[in-house]
Amino acid sequence: MRTKNSAGQIRKTLEKTAARVMKNAHAPYSHFRVGAAIMLTNGKIFSGCNVENASYGMTNCAERTAIFTAVAELGPKIEIKAVAVTNDQGVPCSPCGACRQVIYEFGPNATVFFRGSDGPKQAQITELLPEGFRLQ
Ligand code: THU
Repeated sequence: MRTKNSAGQIRKTLEKTAARVMKNAHAPYSHFRVGAAIMLTNGKIFSGCNVENASYGMTNCAERTAIFTAVAELGPKIEIKAVAVTNDQGVPCSPCGACRQVIYEFGPNATVFFRGSDGPKQAQITELLPEGFRLQ
């Protein structure tokens, strides 16, 4: 029997939310729209899209938009349980290195759902970012 909060169920919920917010992406330079959704350990869900800039380096990825939105809403004591990333081209897309470090900051035990080179993939953030940086 499938339990309500199985990894598969969480993935489905987060992917649906990520796909919805992806439509709000500001991606006139790369034309690559990305959506991300995070679930916190308290069950709350936040989402984000990529927001590009004419000064390309100012671009904010979908994952960081979602995480920063959660911090702005609830404060810094949030803990990320899971993250899902989607894109509008159906191509492999795992979180970039910068986003891995930000996911790790707020979710050292987080599970990440994304499309890998062989299809849907799930990994712990510590697998994607071994020896992540921490100050304390
Ligand atoms: N991007 C994300 O938002 N998340 C990822 O995981 C990979 C890349 C964005 C950044 C940029 O706006 C576009 O995708 C192309 O790199």
